[in-house]
Amino acid sequence: MKIKTYRSLRMDNLSYLLLDEKSGDCAVIDPSWSSKEILSEIEKEELSLKAVLLTHGHYDHSEGIDLFENRNAEIFLAKEDLFLLPYAPKNPSFLEDGKKINLFEEPLTCIHTPGHSPGSYCFLFKKTLFTGDTLFPGCCGRVDLPGSSPKELRKSLIKISKLPQDIEILSGHFYNGGKSDIKTETETNPCFLNINDEDAFINEIL
Ligand SMILES: [Fe+2]
Repeated sequence: MKIKTYRSLRMDNLSYLLLDEKSGDCAVIDPSWSSKEILSEIEKEELSLKAVLLTHGHYDHSEGIDLFENRNAEIFLAKEDLFLLPYAPKNPSFLEDGKKINLFEEPLTCIHTPGHSPGSYCFLFKKTLFTGDTLFPGCCGRVDLPGSSPKELRKSLIKISKLPQDIEILSGHFYNGGKSDIKTETETNPCFLNINDEDAFINEIL
């Protein structure tokens, strides 16, 4: 398996292409402004696109999703974030906490992590967690946006902190390099310092 990262300089968004080199099957997480580049790679390498997944509904992540329709790929997104999508795909599959999506030899697990938006999800594939805008190296997602909730984000970060510590994190923007691991973040990220005290946590991140 290979994970290719695409960086769009417009808002420093990161998009990911998960590729099974043996079968040629692939999936895209948060197409964003890299959509055309990813699609030309898929066509050039004659890959079979199985799914497109959105970590949440914000326009900078869902941009270009229309280009992935009518390609026999399943589009996964959160029902709770439909109100945020500038363009809603016609027949999406809705994410659920704990749902396993079978695309490759190992399933991809959906973890509901509301807070940045009500329908924010992280996707766990093997030892890699795609965190969208929930968690970045050294910081966490904004909670001053429509549908945001600092209380929910706190619970979501606690949920993430309970995953195996050696899991690698690939986030939705190139902030502080965009990648880290759970151990580093739980030990050094300021968002985790006051995680056990709800009021202090909210004061810290607002
Ligand atoms: Fe966002």
